[in-house]
Amino acid sequence: MDNLRIQGGARLEGRVGISGAKNAALPILCAALLADGDHCFRNVPGLRDVRTMGKLLETLGLGVRIEGHVVEVASSPVPEPLAPYELVKQMRASVLVLGPLVARYGRARVSLPGGCAIGARPIDQHLKGLEAMGAEVELDHGYVNVVVPKGRLEGAMIYLDVPTVTGTENLMSAAVLAKGRTTLVNAAREPEVEELARVLNKMGANITGGGTDVITIEGVEGLHPVDHAVIPDRIEAGTYMAAAAATRGNVLLEGVAFEHLEAVAAKLREAGVVVEREGAGVRVAAPTPLRGVDATTAPHPGFPTDMQAQFMILMCTATGPSVITETIFENRFMHVPELVRMGAEIDIRGRAATVAGTRPLSGAQVMATDLRASASLVIAGLVAEGTTDVLRVYHLDRGYERIEEKLGGLGASIERVPGSL
Ligand code: EPU
Repeated sequence: MDNLRIQGGARLEGRVGISGAKNAALPILCAALLADGDHCFRNVPGLRDVRTMGKLLETLGLGVRIEGHVVEVASSPVPEPLAPYELVKQMRASVLVLGPLVARYGRARVSLPGGCAIGARPIDQHLKGLEAMGAEVELDHGYVNVVVPKGRLEGAMIYLDVPTVTGTENLMSAAVLAKGRTTLVNAAREPEVEELARVLNKMGANITGGGTDVITIEGVEGLHPVDHAVIPDRIEAGTYMAAAAATRGNVLLEGVAFEHLEAVAAKLREAGVVVEREGAGVRVAAPTPLRGVDATTAPHPGFPTDMQAQFMILMCTATGPSVITETIFENRFMHVPELVRMGAEIDIRGRAATVAGTRPLSGAQVMATDLRASASLVIAGLVAEGTTDVLRVYHLDRGYERIEEKLGGLGASIERVPGSL
């Protein structure tokens, strides 16, 4: 597996273009299952997860052509609505085919994703919602079998215990072809959920409240194919903002949706980072020193869990302590032992990590088994003295398009080297 070799010490300066949002593209690609015909998705990021989703759709019998940032999907009736373990184990988001398949075919067999590096991540809320709409759910041999005895789902009131992002997306996609009205209460409000509602409506669905915690879906008889450009990736943008600030650089991020970045921008500003809108972009500049500030992750519009690791490394460079609390996933501090190996002083007590700040970091060989944790180690490598090898770039390739090129364009000394680990 490839590694990234980083020589620390460069200030990031210049402009960087932000790619389309991974977590918006994945459910949107699955929406193609809902309507036969030729779909065209633009501004799709060139990522391993997108290719995995393409493979899954192909396994289901759809035609998928990926060319640059355009993905064309030729959708036709699925002979066997099955998502096999081989693909689901590579990417949990494969579970996003469940809602569209059940809506369209009244049945689906999808491998259970199981736990992952950041936590147990159950899908009970997805299944509870489908049951409320008239589906029967059975687990066998590691698969979830969903059958709708009446053939078509029926609208229902669904109260989610937690505002799950992919759960809301699955249930919204299931409800669009159901008979009658579905109301999702305590729905996830993430911009990616709102984006999926927008795309489904373009396909002929009747959804109101996307982006709020109550989403109403009036079922329709059928949908049509869509041509759509995906919103920018707020987490990729946030990661470059953290990297710019950690290196005390000055970077213009181009092609961002600032309204999706407000919680991150507010937190960076509290720490003393200058974050300003500039045209269709955002400029991030960091005077030295920055202040240590506390952060607690929360569902949107709170501070995103997907930015926690990157913010933590920024806080390692700030003056004064900060307490970072992770409330979404129970095991999302895997970057901490690696940051400590590089010289950071971080103490974990339950869900809270106390970061001492301003300890000099030194380059090391480091590794993380989660995408965002890996991103924080890259930022650590940028600020550390000497050479850092971030092993298993595999994880970064799942969610960051051409990260070494983008950082290199900002002046970082970073290269991809073939590795044995
Ligand atoms: N949860 C349940 N039951 C469920 C579903 C979720 O208890 O049925 C719990 C989870 O265990 C977790 C919380 O609810 O504690 C929130 O999980 P959520 O379902 O919202 O997460 P997800 O939909 O599996 C998406 C993103 C993640 C991101 C989270 C939180 C995609 C494909 N993935 O996951 O992105 O961290 O929302 O915002 O949209 C990443 O991109 O690196 C990533 C992990």
